[in-house]
Amino acid sequence: MAEFENKSVFITGAARGQGRAAALAFAKEGAAVAAFDVATKIEYPAYAEGAGEELRSLKAEIEAFGGKCITPVGDVRDDNAVTAAVEAAIAAFGKIDIIFNNAGICAYAPIEEMTDDEWDAMIDINLKGPMNVVRRAVPYMKKAGSGVIINNSSVMGLRGGRRLSHYTASKWGLTGLTKAWAIELAPFGIRVVSIHPTGVNTPMNDGLAAMEGKTPKEIAEASAGNLLPVPWIEPEDVSHLVLFLAGDKARYATGSQFVLDAGLLSV
Ligand SMILES: NC(=O)c1ccc[n+]([C@@H]2O[C@H](COP(=O)([O-])OP(=O)(O)OC[C@H]3O[C@@H](n4cnc5c(N)ncnc54)[C@H](O)[C@@H]3O)[C@@H](O)[C@H]2O)c1
Repeated sequence: MAEFENKSVFITGAARGQGRAAALAFAKEGAAVAAFDVATKIEYPAYAEGAGEELRSLKAEIEAFGGKCITPVGDVRDDNAVTAAVEAAIAAFGKIDIIFNNAGICAYAPIEEMTDDEWDAMIDINLKGPMNVVRRAVPYMKKAGSGVIINNSSVMGLRGGRRLSHYTASKWGLTGLTKAWAIELAPFGIRVVSIHPTGVNTPMNDGLAAMEGKTPKEIAEASAGNLLPVPWIEPEDVSHLVLFLAGDKARYATGSQFVLDAGLLSV
């Protein structure tokens, strides 16, 4: 039997990048996938082209190999949309066993140039978004007496980033939420962990590169400082960690931070 047969996973930011790779990996291991994404161009950051076509093609790809997938569309900042998506997952699959809080944005801004709107968008999507998802989904996990929540923070949730104060604050905030939720949810059999990847080869990096007038590789090399000689890691490298943490082999992992940084944080 596939490892996640009869399990249901709710993934935010599932159309592209790491969310998409995780959705495919979970579905290949038998999980039913609720793939939530804004799937349209949002006002900030400038790179965020709409991912509507990718969300449709994800569903088609999963169904082509016999998997189950629903694709609720909405913004993680919008409580009504998140509530509707959680309800849609419950209606379709009867439960949510795993949440991958993955939707996020990134952009650069020096301290004195950062606008209120930029600060608010970063904190609202990267930090409040996961809170919105968890507060709506947790009642179902509590009722089931089990669950796993995996938060996609970043190496920037464990260190500082240049021209990234809003991003760094949002990602440290998500590390903090991981700790707080782990404490509150452990009595209900619900585990909560965060992951901390170095630069990942996704459309986010392409978008940052376009805004900076550089190639994605230059962006990755400038911001990474990986010890292993790679500019970035691949979305599938992250999925391997996510699936391990979601599974029973990680049954005693909670409240912890899992680094996948090609050595970056060792310096
Ligand atoms: N790419 C990296 O180098 C890197 C490194 C470490 C951590 N991360 C984090 O990993 C996560 C995924 O990043 P990625 O590289 O796959 O990014 P990506 O831009 O390639 O994909 C992000 C997805 O999230 C969706 N999304 C964006 N805003 C949303 C919103 N408000 N509501 C719902 N969906 C929304 C987008 O449509 C897109 O499909 C993010 O939280 C990011 O901060 C990225």
